[in-house]
Amino acid sequence: MPLTRRDFLVSGSLSLAAGALSPLLVHAAKSKPSTPPDFKDWESVRREFDLAPDYIHLALFFLASHPRAVRQAIEQYRERIDANPFVAVDSAIFEPTNVNIPLQVCQAIASYIGGDPQHIALTQNTTTGLALLYHGLPLREGDEILTTTHDHYVHHESIRLATGRCGATWRKIPLFDSYNSISPDEIAERVRKAIGPKTRAVGVTWVHSSSGVRLPIARIAQSVAEANRGREEKDRVLLIVDGVHGLGVEDPKITALGCDAFATGTHKWMFGPRGTGFVWAKPAVWQRMRPIIPTFTSPDIFEAWEQEHDPQTPARAAWFSPGGFQAFEHYWALPTAVHFHQDMGPARVTARIHELNGQMKAELARMPNIQLYTPRDENLSAGIVCFDVKGMKPEQVVKRLLDQRIVASTTPYRVSYARVACSVVNTPQEVDSVLRAIRQLG
Ligand SMILES: Cc1ncc(COP(=O)(O)O)c(C=O)c1O
Repeated sequence: MPLTRRDFLVSGSLSLAAGALSPLLVHAAKSKPSTPPDFKDWESVRREFDLAPDYIHLALFFLASHPRAVRQAIEQYRERIDANPFVAVDSAIFEPTNVNIPLQVCQAIASYIGGDPQHIALTQNTTTGLALLYHGLPLREGDEILTTTHDHYVHHESIRLATGRCGATWRKIPLFDSYNSISPDEIAERVRKAIGPKTRAVGVTWVHSSSGVRLPIARIAQSVAEANRGREEKDRVLLIVDGVHGLGVEDPKITALGCDAFATGTHKWMFGPRGTGFVWAKPAVWQRMRPIIPTFTSPDIFEAWEQEHDPQTPARAAWFSPGGFQAFEHYWALPTAVHFHQDMGPARVTARIHELNGQMKAELARMPNIQLYTPRDENLSAGIVCFDVKGMKPEQVVKRLLDQRIVASTTPYRVSYARVACSVVNTPQEVDSVLRAIRQLG
């Protein structure tokens, strides 16, 4: 007899008790604090975080601090799991749709990014998402992946490892030569010219953590679409985006960007539980791909294994959510972080982050001791600001700022800069204090 979702990896039958528990789990994680924040008041939003109050935090894009609602949701799930691990987990991940928590997590993400929950795979971070995308591509010997010189180590490394396994090649191109002369037209043109007959994917980063530059993804998508004209489906070039520093900052409707696949962590600007992320891709992309890690979110795969045949249907997103038992209390609490952003209002979040970083850049650009790299143009930047203090190494800058309880960071790239990033927890007064401190450096 074929196994049902409930039987998936489970030998006992706790259907009734477990089924009764699941709605409680979800309800617990949705319960609001007694005094909800005023989401229209940034001071009130800031109070939701347990951040050390004597520091100015300009590196939350590195790893999130959890707002109160997220901490509570994690804690409530943790209590449930600690009280009864088998019942809590079994009922939540193997139950049919309306009480299935991974599915609810996908629904929450979809309500934010504007897509279909069924096109989302849940991952632990951006790194895992990029790795499963590039390794999942049906690459053949001689195929090529085109990427850029501006991407993060984990992006290049995912491509290197994936191409190395099958005799495919990869190539990096610069999208601009100087931070002073970045043009969306030129970026799109460079991508268009660089795509060759063997190119199967173009990998780019929405917001560069090397410089703070935000790419015109829609324009790049047009170049890729042009290259695809007349190509057979199997030779189509896919546009893959590392979106981690855009999500939670820019318009979240990423399905409108025009890319084919989008990998992100939700533990940076999203303030989601640490160790969470997702990949969104078009269904035709999922269909072309091969999973690399066994999943727990697709009973049909388990049934095929149990019946000793290959899966009979085309691949879909759920096949790509890495399985195995995990820090469930974290990834189940992700909807709470999504709701936190929806409550603040994505457009307000974008405006606030641009306003604070705009204030930072405007003043840095005026300082004679500073070389500012991030464009001031709001269309070419987001929440990250990179600069040098003339005559100082970036790590000295960061150290000197930390001595004054200002948390900045250096960019982890071959050419490294000092980096600050204002998020919704910061204030214009904090930006002024940081600028005063930077002015006195060097
Ligand atoms: C552009 C970019 N991509 C990916 C990562 C890795 O993110 P994650 O920790 O979600 O894997 C980082 C930094 O941490 C990054 O700056």
